[in-house]
Amino acid sequence: MATAPTDDAPTDGIEIDAPTLADGPPLWRAAQAAGGLDVNPLYAYVLWCRDFAATTAVARMDGEVVGYCTAYRRPDVPTTLFVWQIAVLPAARRRGLGQRILHHLVDRHGDLTALEATVTHDNEASLAMFGTFARQRGSEVSVSPLFGPEHLGDDHEPEDLLHIPLP
Ligand SMILES: CC(C)(COP(=O)(O)OP(=O)(O)OC[C@H]1O[C@@H](n2cnc3c(N)ncnc32)[C@H](O)[C@@H]1OP(=O)(O)O)[C@@H](O)C(=O)NCCC(=O)NCCS
Repeated sequence: MATAPTDDAPTDGIEIDAPTLADGPPLWRAAQAAGGLDVNPLYAYVLWCRDFAATTAVARMDGEVVGYCTAYRRPDVPTTLFVWQIAVLPAARRRGLGQRILHHLVDRHGDLTALEATVTHDNEASLAMFGTFARQRGSEVSVSPLFGPEHLGDDHEPEDLLHIPLP
């Protein structure tokens, strides 16, 4: 299984681990600070840190949250990890942290066969991040329409499904 070259990554000093219940409010604040996300109620992040901690990662620098990824195993395909939200705060971006968080989550579980997420067409940073992550794992991204106006309404950009097999 391929893993990311994280030992000498330029995000040294940032530690990534599973959340505790106390991380709900910081994750909620990080979602707001990141921009570009549908921010959910505080309750959702607190609940996530309780029930989906095993598939969630929090990145901290000097104890402060600088990024996170909330994910879950798809109930119908439990070896597929679906990324619900991933965010890196603006000051920590473009240093590979988003990719490192994804590698951390996949490496935490030995049995995953695929990673999925949905992305809007215009989210170039997210598309680049998932593309680089896929290449680093010896894989590639397949893109297909998933949620359109019939699901999300006219005020929300369509969301394409990214599917990345994990060799
Ligand atoms: C998407 C996000 C998590 C990426 O975090 P990050 O730590 O900067 O990601 P990485 O550094 O690992 O990778 C980002 C890639 O996008 C590229 N990139 C960054 N901003 C870009 C932009 N505006 N246009 C094109 N490419 C961009 C980087 O060069 C890098 O590409 P590379 O792998 O070829 O070097 C971060 O931008 C973010 O939090 N965005 C707001 C929330 C969001 O959109 N989340 C994703 C929803 S699916």
